[in-house]
Amino acid sequence: MNSLKMGILRYSGVMRTHQPHKHIKPVALILWIFGALSTCAYGQSNTPTALYQRSLAATCANCHGTDGKGVPNGGMPLINHLSKKQMLEQLLAYKAGTKAGTIMPQLCKGYTDEQLAAIAQELGSHE
Ligand code: HEC
Repeated sequence: MNSLKMGILRYSGVMRTHQPHKHIKPVALILWIFGALSTCAYGQSNTPTALYQRSLAATCANCHGTDGKGVPNGGMPLINHLSKKQMLEQLLAYKAGTKAGTIMPQLCKGYTDEQLAAIAQELGSHE
């Protein structure tokens, strides 16, 4: 039995043998569960730079899907085939107005060049 289940059983009173833990407060339990879950969910690097990159790149997921994987034939271009370099070139071209589009030219104008570079770094595939 993993520790999460143990905690739940203990809290719900199923495991009466663990009387010493009976005093555990609901808030403490919730915080503990949250902590346990978040440790599992975020196995990736959590440095501020990595989080910043990921949160910028997450704004693209609405249309292009998680990590640019999209939905094949879903009507939006898949972008996970582009290298980091190609991705940045396209984003900068949209921003400069040299690449045509309906949405992307407007969207790219909303980011600084540094932010576009961070996004390309996150979403572009390895060369
Ligand atoms: C509102 C939907 C939407 C969002 C959000 C969006 N895109 Fe797009 N993207 C499109 C559409 C539509 C196109 C096709 C070009 C056009 O019409 O602007 C496109 C095209 C692209 C292309 C060119 C693909 C190719 O093969 O030519 C790239 C690269 C791209 N998007 C990257 C991004 C990145 C990176 C983000 C996040 C900063 C993003 N997009 C956010 C809708 C979106």
